[in-house]
Amino acid sequence: MACKRGALIVLEGVDKAGKTTQCKKLVQALQQSGRPAEMMRFPDRTTTIGQLISAYLEKKSDLEDHTVHLLFSANRWELVPQMRKKLEQGITLVVDRYAFSGVAFTSAKQGFCLDWCMKPDVGLPKPDLVIFLQLSPAEATLRGQFGEERYGTSVFQRAVQQRFEQLMKEPSVNWQVIRLSEH
Ligand code: TYD
Repeated sequence: MACKRGALIVLEGVDKAGKTTQCKKLVQALQQSGRPAEMMRFPDRTTTIGQLISAYLEKKSDLEDHTVHLLFSANRWELVPQMRKKLEQGITLVVDRYAFSGVAFTSAKQGFCLDWCMKPDVGLPKPDLVIFLQLSPAEATLRGQFGEERYGTSVFQRAVQQRFEQLMKEPSVNWQVIRLSEH
């Protein structure tokens, strides 16, 4: 008997929104309810491309902005065969960041438009659901400093949030916004 395709569920949000914790909880809950589920994350820093990205994020190397955008996208594409296989096997994938982060972060930089940023990811497996963890600016402040990595400033994170808000207007994507107010 052919098994039912797994769902592709993506969690997005600005840094410190708690995506990783929520991804793990969602995988656990799915597994407990008898649905095979696995977590993935982007960037996947374990691949050769992922290691280039990781060194860039840790500020151990500098990369030109278009170049790093394309590397983030290539890092998704290199995992597509594995993703498709798992989905076909009936495994639900819960993914910590996806192309939406790619577009929101790069387009928050000077000189990038959403349209250019979206192009390299056209054709990636389409998520069945994108959960956006919405953090109020007050809550973000309560959660303390952003990390030491690149992009860890509140000014940049506010620009990223604005780009996400633009992306959420896209009606062909099944966005579900969860507002976080507790700390
Ligand atoms: P991540 O490894 O998820 O780190 P964290 O746990 O701190 O959220 O993401 C690393 C950074 O990379 C994060 O600031 C978002 C950024 N990013 C992009 O700029 N482009 C992308 O395509 C992705 C997936 C992430």
